[in-house]
Amino acid sequence: MPSAVTNDLVSDHERYRVLVNAITDYGVYMLDAEGRVASWNTGAQRFKGYEASEILGRHFEMFYTPEDRATGLPHRALETAGKEGRFESEGWRVRKDGSRFWAHVVIDPIRDPAGALIGFAKITRDLTERRAAAETLRQSEQQFRLLVQSVTDYAIYMLDPQGQVTSWNVGAERIKGYLPAEIIGQHFSRFYLEEDQRKGEPQKALETAAREGRFEKEALRVRKDGSSFWAHVVIDPIRDESGLLIGFAKVTRDITERKAAERALEEARQALLQSQKIEAIGQLTGGIAHDFNNLLMAVLGSLELLRRRIPNDPQALRLLDNAVQGAERGATLTQRMLSFARRQDLKPRPVDLADLVRGMTHLLERSIGAGIFVEVEVPAHLPPVKSDIVQLETALLNLAINARDAMPGGGSLIISARAEQVGPGHASRLPPGLYVCLSVADHGEGMDAETLARAKDPFFTTKGIGKGTGLGLPMVQGLAEQSGGRLVLKSCKGEGTTAELWLPAADPNDLESVEESKAPEAPARSRQFTIVAVDDDPLVLMNTTAMLEDLGHIVFEASSGAEALGILRSERGVDCVISDQSMPRMTGVQLAEIIRAKWPRLPVLLATGYAELPGGVGRNLPKLAKPFRQHDLARALDRVMEDKTG
Ligand SMILES: Nc1ncnc2c1ncn2[C@@H]1O[C@H](COP(=O)(O)OP(=O)(O)OP(=O)(O)O)[C@@H](O)[C@H]1O
Ligand SMILES: [Mg+2]
Repeated sequence: MPSAVTNDLVSDHERYRVLVNAITDYGVYMLDAEGRVASWNTGAQRFKGYEASEILGRHFEMFYTPEDRATGLPHRALETAGKEGRFESEGWRVRKDGSRFWAHVVIDPIRDPAGALIGFAKITRDLTERRAAAETLRQSEQQFRLLVQSVTDYAIYMLDPQGQVTSWNVGAERIKGYLPAEIIGQHFSRFYLEEDQRKGEPQKALETAAREGRFEKEALRVRKDGSSFWAHVVIDPIRDESGLLIGFAKVTRDITERKAAERALEEARQALLQSQKIEAIGQLTGGIAHDFNNLLMAVLGSLELLRRRIPNDPQALRLLDNAVQGAERGATLTQRMLSFARRQDLKPRPVDLADLVRGMTHLLERSIGAGIFVEVEVPAHLPPVKSDIVQLETALLNLAINARDAMPGGGSLIISARAEQVGPGHASRLPPGLYVCLSVADHGEGMDAETLARAKDPFFTTKGIGKGTGLGLPMVQGLAEQSGGRLVLKSCKGEGTTAELWLPAADPNDLESVEESKAPEAPARSRQFTIVAVDDDPLVLMNTTAMLEDLGHIVFEASSGAEALGILRSERGVDCVISDQSMPRMTGVQLAEIIRAKWPRLPVLLATGYAELPGGVGRNLPKLAKPFRQHDLARALDRVMEDKTG
């Protein structure tokens, strides 16, 4: 049925025409063998601007730019298509209105069944928009690359899925020290500490990022030169549109400074806690020591009086000596407690450390025993320091004994001193000024970090209960601080210890030396006085009274300031008041103030175990340090009465 076939052919032909014409996104048209336009479709019309009637029969080179025409591109295109069976390119083409558009062009040759070239099929696509989009993308990528490249505070770089570095910015170069050429292609695990590498941290980081969409951490990382730094690290996975992992973006910041600031803050907090703790223990110990002092005073005073009443019975005297020794050991302990509680009643005077050390060498050698050699390296001309000479000797002895205990097999102990001008930011953290540093060094067992950190804590000892009090170093520290200095300990396990006692040099203006009156061994029984003794502690009061009566004086006892005032009002002829300072309701100083107002010529002697006296009147009152012996009391009384009469 030929007609049906023809019909089919016609409708086939028609279908193709309709189809081609319906294509609006592609220009689909034919050229004859010479390049003249032989057919035209809607797409071609749409983006080239010509109606079919205007263009059919015209040469296709008119779609090209003058520059391309000048180089003969249109002819070459047909030639290539003819020879190679296809020509494909992208380039600028010209519309009817003269404007240009970016075209993608394919030209295929059309041959008859015998193989002769009869024309060309040409398919053109307007890619102007796509090209513009691509250009925008390229520009923004370039901008982005420039941006990332020029960031110096953050290391921003990429890894491939296996962790190899694929890009590197200036920040990375600055923070980690590698040039791009040195690091691109290397595995990023080299930025990790060896131990972290062994633990598989780098791999875990990538796995976490891939699994959870992000990995973030602060940790130590290693620079090219091997030094380490605190890094804040973020790793994000990068995926393509299909979700396939194509690499990782890594941003690293150097937070070493922030970490250092955090650490300094933490240290300061710890130091504050520690000082609050010491302060609390100090309050407690100081309080106990104060009461203890009173008790010992009573014990020692009574023993002294007893000694005079006992006939020459050697056995009784030996027992008495024992008791005195025991009480004196207790007094030493009390002194240490008061000292670490910074409640020592210091008698600061200019002290020449060279003299002090020289004067003590013999005593030191004796007290630390054989097997330990004492070397002294103290220059002769050191500036004097202002401190309490007796306490300073005790401190030096404490340090020397610690050194001895650290060298059970013997060794040498080096006592040295040097003057040093301390500036701001000095390692000792002392306020600026001139200091003398007295140091006691041993090559003994030393201390591990933990022991060193606690060595200055009150009651901390490694020597066992009953052996060490743990008050040696706190005493030294207390003295140093009360004198405006510090105790600095340096030690390493197995390498020995150096204890440095930093003391401020005495102010040349303070240098008038305090006259020292030597203690008369036997109490002087010159005159008889009438005395009011005031103390809230009956034991102490009784003891003071006994000592005074033994000296031949007449004593009125008062257990409070108010009682003392009552006695003064009723009794004529009182020569002196001896009062405890620390009493409830009315302190010794308050009592003294009232007395000064009412009986200005009546002297008041203040007995005190505390360093902290109120200023004003309290500072100028004659004082008697507790615990006192009878001759101390006699001497203080003499001085007060001399001042009154003299
Ligand atoms: N030179 C030193 N070498 C090694 N460790 C020391 C040294 N000096 C002090 N220490 C350590 O510090 C601790 C505290 O010392 P501290 O002088 O305060 O008390 P102590 O010596 O134990 O007791 P005490 O002084 O009453 O004998 C010691 O127990 C010891 O562990
Ligand atoms: Mg000690």
